[in-house]
Amino acid sequence: MQRSSFSLFLIMLCVSSSLGQSPSGVPYTKYGIYDIDRIRPEECRRRRAVLMAKMGTNSVVILRAQDYAHRSGDEDYRFRQNSNFLYFTGCNESNSTLILVPSGFVLDNGIVVKEILFLTPKIKDWRGENLGTEGAREILGFGFEGTQSVALSNDRLKDILVSILSNTRILYYTPSLVETLVDPVSNISFISWRESMKNLQEKYPNLEVKGENTIIGEMRTVKSSAEIGLLQKAVDATIAGHIEAMKSCEPGMFEYQLQAVVEYCFTQAGAEYIGFRSIIGSGPNTQLFHYDANRRKMLSGELVVMDIGAEYHGYSADITRTIPVNGKFTSAQREIYELVLHAQQAAIDTIFPGTMMVDVEKTAMKVIAEGLTRLGIAKDSDDVKKYYPHRISHFIGLDVHDGSPIGKLIPGMVMTVEPGIYIPEGSDCPQKYWNIGIRIEDDVVITDEGRSVLSAFAPQSAADIETLMKKKGIGNQRVGKE
Ligand code: GLY
Ligand code: MN
Repeated sequence: MQRSSFSLFLIMLCVSSSLGQSPSGVPYTKYGIYDIDRIRPEECRRRRAVLMAKMGTNSVVILRAQDYAHRSGDEDYRFRQNSNFLYFTGCNESNSTLILVPSGFVLDNGIVVKEILFLTPKIKDWRGENLGTEGAREILGFGFEGTQSVALSNDRLKDILVSILSNTRILYYTPSLVETLVDPVSNISFISWRESMKNLQEKYPNLEVKGENTIIGEMRTVKSSAEIGLLQKAVDATIAGHIEAMKSCEPGMFEYQLQAVVEYCFTQAGAEYIGFRSIIGSGPNTQLFHYDANRRKMLSGELVVMDIGAEYHGYSADITRTIPVNGKFTSAQREIYELVLHAQQAAIDTIFPGTMMVDVEKTAMKVIAEGLTRLGIAKDSDDVKKYYPHRISHFIGLDVHDGSPIGKLIPGMVMTVEPGIYIPEGSDCPQKYWNIGIRIEDDVVITDEGRSVLSAFAPQSAADIETLMKKKGIGNQRVGKE
């Protein structure tokens, strides 16, 4: 091989290793990692560098991976990584710990490191092979030369922790333990967070402990282009779910059958999880913002609220559509639908860098107040609050309710815009409006120029929804029978 092409080969080898791919471009399947569109190790490393630059001298951050949560008998709930831990490591294993020491820590071999990832030593069990320190280097880039990082096995954690914390003034850490354990039979109540803090304080009296989100929340709120790319994939999977559910919906179906259609589309599009439990609420259940039982039979003439979000490589969409079960809005339903849509559009139009979140909120509220008054539904502002009682927005990202509340919008933030009107049975208004519950929610990224609606392709106008609902969908097929 000529010298120049050999260097090119070396560079390719380096780049592909740092991506967690073999030089042939095939992922390192031995760790059970097949996706090649994950956040790259370089981006996680940049995030760690930004975080360390924000921390004062003599401070340390410790991030713990999520623990498995016990479900019943021999079963745990499906594992989902702690969002902060995932954000800074890209590591999807439980029983792991990241310690960042901006002022550096000297290892036994004299090497100074600032980033230490502790993991379970290499094992191969019935589910496959874990990363171990070798995999952490190959896939996550911990231990690459020049990175001042290292991956160590968990048996080193205890000693190294004592050594670091004995010389630290500020610790950013939130114990990820179950918050309380109350056993009424033995009359024991144990608040684990408080107990952890007490132990830490006794052991290290000079240590000041602050919650990790005090320095992380803001960072996670502004997304990189890679994160927006993954959010778009989550959004696209969610749009597919809405379209298929609209086509499939018909009177006599159960809410869970729409849920099945939606979640099939998520998995089919490569999303690993639901970002939150799918909310499929029909008839009176349209009034319940977080209804997730999804067991009711849906009847002709009713509405169904579908508030759903696929989670793709950790990033969650959150899109709501409200549709008529029989494919045609009644005139009263349509009046309220148009009003919510108008409020949402007006709110979206206010979104620019620098807009205050509260102004987005006020804009939607004004439209809804005027509309409800015009229709004879609201008599005063208390009535308006009664029929539109929730906030208009939250950020989305690694958590469906993501980041810390920030007043001013900044490019890279991704937010929902989700006004709604809910009129329970028995309300003091014309009866034709009873049991109407309508929420319309889209996902919007703030750009340098203004905003872009990531979920713009999800059918939204009453006419588009009615047209689509004339078609059949996968939920209308008989399954499991020839
Ligand atoms: N998707 C549910 C919520 O935003 O609370
Ligand atoms: Mn939402």
